Amino acid sequence: MNFPFQTTVFLICTLLLFSCQEKQDENDLKEEHKEKRSFQMYEVSEMTALMRQMFQLNEALKERIVSGENLRDYPEGFERILEASMTKEQPMDDFFIEHAELYLTAQKSIYANPEEAKTLFNDAINACIACHKVKCTGPITKIEKLYIP
Ligand code: HEC
Repeated sequence: MNFPFQTTVFLICTLLLFSCQEKQDENDLKEEHKEKRSFQMYEVSEMTALMRQMFQLNEALKERIVSGENLRDYPEGFERILEASMTKEQPMDDFFIEHAELYLTAQKSIYANPEEAKTLFNDAINACIACHKVKCTGPITKIEKLYIP
């Protein structure tokens, strides 16, 4: 009787460790939430930290595009998407590299053609999502909020 219990606990812990998981429902077991909170203390991968930065800088860029401000410079640090280490479950395979390059090209073209910034920005967000659909579905709803209507 011990084995299935341990298996269940192991599976729950494994699920909670994946940042790419869909957000869990508010009604989920209280126990799971408690564990989830303690897992957030763990160090995140270099790629996760970079992705959070990409999200924030694009939020700021969106504001500048909407208010017609100067776009400032392309953040060179985004190139680290091709080098940053990921969680073990995420290999840097051909799909990832190809989509990372498509994304970087899309992001750069916003700064190169500021008069078309809005369309090109939304194209870059499409490129984020194209990779996420295969690699990491959890944050998609959050990324979609970046679109400029
Ligand atoms: C080439 C694929 C790819 C592209 C392009 C990409 N991502 Fe990601 N993203 C990932 C992967 C893989 C992870 C999970 C990283 C890990 O587990 O180490 C991730 C994680 C994230 C996370 C979750 C971070 C956390 O807190 O757990 C967010 C938010 C995110 N990406 C936003 C974005 C945004 C915004 C863009 C575009 C500006 C983008 N991503 C472009 C593959 C991609």
